[in-house]
Amino acid sequence: MTDQATGLASLPQKNVLVTVEEGVAWVKFNRPEKRNAFNPGIVYEMVQVLDVLEMEDSVGCVVITGAGEAFSAGQDLKEYFREPDAGHPVLRERLHKANSGWQWRRMMYFPKPTIAMVNGWCFGGAFQILLGCDLAIADEDATFGLSEINWGIIPAGIVTKSVAMALSQRKALYYIMTGETFDGRTAEDIGLVNFAVPKEQLVARTTALAKKLMEKNPNVLRACKTAYHYTREMSWDMAAEYLAAKSDQTKYRDPEDGSTKGMKQFLDEKSYRPGLGAYRRD
Ligand code: COA
Repeated sequence: MTDQATGLASLPQKNVLVTVEEGVAWVKFNRPEKRNAFNPGIVYEMVQVLDVLEMEDSVGCVVITGAGEAFSAGQDLKEYFREPDAGHPVLRERLHKANSGWQWRRMMYFPKPTIAMVNGWCFGGAFQILLGCDLAIADEDATFGLSEINWGIIPAGIVTKSVAMALSQRKALYYIMTGETFDGRTAEDIGLVNFAVPKEQLVARTTALAKKLMEKNPNVLRACKTAYHYTREMSWDMAAEYLAAKSDQTKYRDPEDGSTKGMKQFLDEKSYRPGLGAYRRD
């Protein structure tokens, strides 16, 4: 629950625009004239946006996209790199920390489902948001690229690590080492996005996916994604132990008591079969 001082009304709505429709928060990078490159304005505003949206009860799912022709052209080469590099080292460090904070940890463990809707150019640092979101849908004509090699840097932030986790070694190294661009269809083929669709279907398909996620038990959904990310780094034995504990914790903390209801519906009432859809949340 949020109030006027901390809720949606407190957002600057400048570098990042936020609207909420039927439980879906549409978060739009808003520097179309700079192809939504991530400058300090976007970085600090996104920290604030995520703080607000995670506590906003009216929001069940977050979609991240860009205004104009771009999802994002990555980090702003002038305002994120050149100017801060020449400025005060403490301010530079603060900016980099805020950036990795929202692009990585906050996105990965965000307590609500997140979808990247890639509407156009998607370069470099933008891959971090793309892979930080739980799911992704792209315009089939969107252009993706790990362009860093072409101008003498490596995909840093945490982009290389994210790409290594998401793609096969062959695909990851190919795109990292050549800097070659590819379209939405290829992004789907290599598993970088879930679906690539014609531009005119992008919003409708994203909305449908968001609605599907919002039908699920939010407590369990949150635990599923947390467990997924943590267990990737664990040994098999540790993962089994962690999942047993997480499973108990999820049941214990579930205000809907979904697992008891689901079992009752299947075993006693014969009113629902898990293989045929979501259990009734009434
Ligand atoms: N950092 C800073 N400014 C950027 C930027 C970035 N990553 N990407 C685009 N811009 C700026 C351009 O400098 C230009 O500014 P100007 O109008 O003051 O000259 C403006 O955004 C529009 O860019 P432009 O190149 O004219 O648009 P385009 O539609 O022809 O091309 C791109 C779009 C995305 C293909 C091209 O801008 C590009 O290659 N950007 C760099 C992408 C990149 O390598 N990102 C990795 C960063 S980690």
